[in-house]
Amino acid sequence: THQWRGVIEEYRDRLPVSATTPVVTLREGGTPLVPAQVLSERTGCEVYLKVEGANPTGSFKDRGMTMAISRAKEEGAQAVICASTGNTSASAAAYAVRAGMVCAVLVPSGKIALGKMGQALVHGARILQVDGNFDDCLTLARDLADKYPVALVNSVNPVRIEGQKTAAFEIVDMLGDAPDIHVLPVGNAGNITAYWKGYREYADDGLATRRPRMWGYQAAGSAPIVNGAPVTSPQTIATAIRIGNPASWDFALAARDESGGRIDSVTDRQILSAYRLLASQEGVFVEPSSAASVAGLLKAAEAGLVDPGQRIVCTVTGNGLKDPDWAVAGAPKPTVVPVDAGAAAAQLGLDG
Ligand code: F0G
Repeated sequence: THQWRGVIEEYRDRLPVSATTPVVTLREGGTPLVPAQVLSERTGCEVYLKVEGANPTGSFKDRGMTMAISRAKEEGAQAVICASTGNTSASAAAYAVRAGMVCAVLVPSGKIALGKMGQALVHGARILQVDGNFDDCLTLARDLADKYPVALVNSVNPVRIEGQKTAAFEIVDMLGDAPDIHVLPVGNAGNITAYWKGYREYADDGLATRRPRMWGYQAAGSAPIVNGAPVTSPQTIATAIRIGNPASWDFALAARDESGGRIDSVTDRQILSAYRLLASQEGVFVEPSSAASVAGLLKAAEAGLVDPGQRIVCTVTGNGLKDPDWAVAGAPKPTVVPVDAGAAAAQLGLDG
């Protein structure tokens, strides 16, 4: 009878809602904080994974979307719009269904993982594939929201950040204090902004004795913050974070500088290696972009930048099922066996 109620009800006093705000929820949040044994051994630290793929639509976006759609509904919006590399659109589409709203999504041509496209489709979103990249999609979405009666639910909408900050609350509630370091992937930079806001609020209100250093990782082929300049044609296999001109760039720099943290990049090779390590050694299947956090932690550890004995949380942002191509790519074909225990056992190398 005591089900997690979703982030608005669980953290109502810390979110911009009133008693009359209609709460549109799929009971998002309350995601597992999983001790990472292999990563802990490798770094000499106490490493946890915040598994955001366990959210209702399979990514952290649901935390912000419950806020954005609830507030849009309260304000009488009949339609919402977003630009997306896939997860925001999947989440917006699902929450719009709950709210009885029309959802329009703008996606970059050809670079959306199939699972995410399937979600937007099955939830009945109106999908426009834009002849451009994510940054072009966001420009167009903002323009449409300016000129037409449609509410923008990208993370440039500040209530999205409010919803997403609840992940930091959950971590502190679970660990009893903030970790020493928080590591996460950075794309449009909304999530690093949100976590930092959450950690600051809890520390300011005495619910944590400290704030973590924020470590954000971009993909090397789309690392505008690391390079210090927008990337006009971002490239990476981590399509969720294939973003060349992040909307929350300044907030990401503030999170880095105020926390004494770092924003760095990881190569696609490092991302895929962390992706495989997470699945094969920690039992946690994430989408490639999500593995950028863990790839970043391992890169820093190899460079001698991680002092042992610290408590570290890595957010893994999305579910591996969203983009399974990378799981099956290059894997051997399954061995075919007859319905015969002896033959199957021989293939498996089991002794009789
Ligand atoms: N990880 C995943 C799985 C994402 O989908 C995103 C962003 C990020 C990390 C980066 O988070 O943008 O807040 O820095 N996806 C957006 C989308 C852009 O449209 O789904 P960020």
